[in-house]
Amino acid sequence: MRDKTSVPPTYLDGTRLWVDSRPRAFVQRRGEAPILRRLGGEVPGGTVLELGSGRRGTGLRLAVDVFGAARAEGIDRYPASVAACRTAVADLGDRVDVREGDATALAAADGSYDAVFAYHVLHHAEAWRDAVREAARVLRPGGRFFSCEMTERFVDSRPLRAVAFHPADADRPTPSGLAAACGAAGLDVVAQETRLAGCWTALVATRP
Ligand SMILES: C[S@@+](CC[C@H](N)C(=O)[O-])C[C@H]1O[C@@H](n2cnc3c(N)ncnc32)[C@H](O)[C@@H]1O
Repeated sequence: MRDKTSVPPTYLDGTRLWVDSRPRAFVQRRGEAPILRRLGGEVPGGTVLELGSGRRGTGLRLAVDVFGAARAEGIDRYPASVAACRTAVADLGDRVDVREGDATALAAADGSYDAVFAYHVLHHAEAWRDAVREAARVLRPGGRFFSCEMTERFVDSRPLRAVAFHPADADRPTPSGLAAACGAAGLDVVAQETRLAGCWTALVATRP
């Protein structure tokens, strides 16, 4: 547990301004998805799951547009986000489905998906290692886990804590911690790229 007095209180809800915003979607489409595709390849014709799909559903759209998935299913823990996301991706028809769900306790059966995507959900989940374990469980053998995360270094930095809400002080992903959690979940890390002085990491792991 970190000392809460070591950082300033949150003055501005930056999370609200950034998450699900157009600039965030632009970064995800032009920056993160191409990096993940370079690290882990496409999922042509596959069935994929996105953890924490948010209100805009950009990850679901990218799964279809950029990774070539035939079907993309999203889950989010907030019903209002699920409703907004359904509306946002309605044009994709039955190629997408969005439901309420908890990334740390997925309803899907073992081996259901060709890929699981997780864009910035792990640092919001209280038990992110359970989410990695669940992703591994629902992947078929040979399936891939694609993750992009802001790391502990950024999430717990004084500037970010001044402007953004995150779960109370807890265990958060670091680049090496995320790779280790994948290993503990039975996944093999095939590629990882960490940028912005360790504040952001992209990782692809596969289920043997
Ligand atoms: C920072 S937002 C990221 C949204 C989107 N994936 C993106 O990259 O822009 C984190 C999302 O994860 C969702 N989330 C957090 N913990 C979750 C959990 N345990 N299960 C499912 N969704 C969760 C939040 O409701 C939110 O929509």
